[in-house]
Amino acid sequence: MSLPDSNSTLDSLQTTSRRRLSGATFPVLKSAVVAIVCGIIISAQTFVAEAQETGSDAKNAPAFEMMKQFRKGVNFGNFLEVPPNQNWGDNSAKEWDFKTIKNEGFDHIRIPIGWHHYNGAGPEFEIQETFFKRVEQQLDWAEEYELAVLINVHHFNEFVESPQENREELMRIWEQVAERFSDRPLTLAYEILNEPHGASNAEVMNDVYAEAIRRIRAIDEKRLIMIGPDEWNSPRGLAGLKVPDDPRVAVTVHCYDPFLFTHQGASWTGDMDKVRGVVFPGPGKKELPIDEALPSWVASQIREYNQAVENGEAQEPGFVPSLKTAAEWGKKNSRPIYVGEFGAIALADKESRANFYGEFAKTAEELELGWCLWDWKAGFYYWDREKDAPAEGMHEALFDR
Ligand code: BGC
Repeated sequence: MSLPDSNSTLDSLQTTSRRRLSGATFPVLKSAVVAIVCGIIISAQTFVAEAQETGSDAKNAPAFEMMKQFRKGVNFGNFLEVPPNQNWGDNSAKEWDFKTIKNEGFDHIRIPIGWHHYNGAGPEFEIQETFFKRVEQQLDWAEEYELAVLINVHHFNEFVESPQENREELMRIWEQVAERFSDRPLTLAYEILNEPHGASNAEVMNDVYAEAIRRIRAIDEKRLIMIGPDEWNSPRGLAGLKVPDDPRVAVTVHCYDPFLFTHQGASWTGDMDKVRGVVFPGPGKKELPIDEALPSWVASQIREYNQAVENGEAQEPGFVPSLKTAAEWGKKNSRPIYVGEFGAIALADKESRANFYGEFAKTAEELELGWCLWDWKAGFYYWDREKDAPAEGMHEALFDR
């Protein structure tokens, strides 16, 4: 199946540089860069009650309790975060998607949202009514099919690059969202900003998070809110993250290790589009060619991979140390940790992809981290639209090990 998202559109944006490899930091060009069970719908009230705190003694118990709704999720990639008038393929979700997601065994959906593309000028930054309605339709279906939902602010590049100049816009987005959804069940959660990096460093973001949470809390005291470290939400960034003293705040991280495998051939990374044939778990039997035009960090990753092929040595997947770092930080700081994005591009071979998603989810579960795969039916898809079925081996790898 060809990639459903329009990467040529993605290429044209080329606005940000992404750094998210394990252990070291590498520059990567990125343009704009994801039967109702038993046929029974229990009442919305029962569902909501499950998300309420249960009186555990643990510090930040409400956040831990609410995170029980966010264990196994799927991202609606390349949908509501896409800027108007751009075509990243039709990834719009309809009732069918919710029903199917529930049937597959997921318990929640993360919906990346580009609110900043659909609002007016300051000081109000009023969000368009038609856009609110589109989001609301998604939340209604999620409630109907008993799926929890995490919504965020995604690809707000202007903010990430100039956080002080665009700070009020981010705050106003959250105030309007908090107002609009304050009566929704607590199975709806908020994530303040996707993947801060560069100028949106830990120091800046700690202050931004504290203010955003204060402003949301003035409207909605009980909702679960997630915040993530800088460096693209990498677990490495956790060392600098300060979590406000609020018992309903959880921490989200993203992990695309091993990047050489997960982003092979990705056109929007600039550096990876010539890399193909990386298998998981590594190494495979075939050494990979090293194109002279490859940046040195990619070439050195390939050399390492080839060395392992030559020695016939199994490689520990890069996500293991990353997830352990995150889990340890969570224990030390008494915060639940959620892996809001992980995944492998559909250009990798099917068997490796299924191996990867299965191993990653298993590791996360062993470390008691919730996970949310990237993505539902775009370029890293779980659902194979041509076959109208899960991509080969994926369901078994995630839900039937
Ligand atoms: C971005 C997507 C991208 C994915 C994998 C996400 O954070 O929003 O555009 O496809 O990461 O690189």
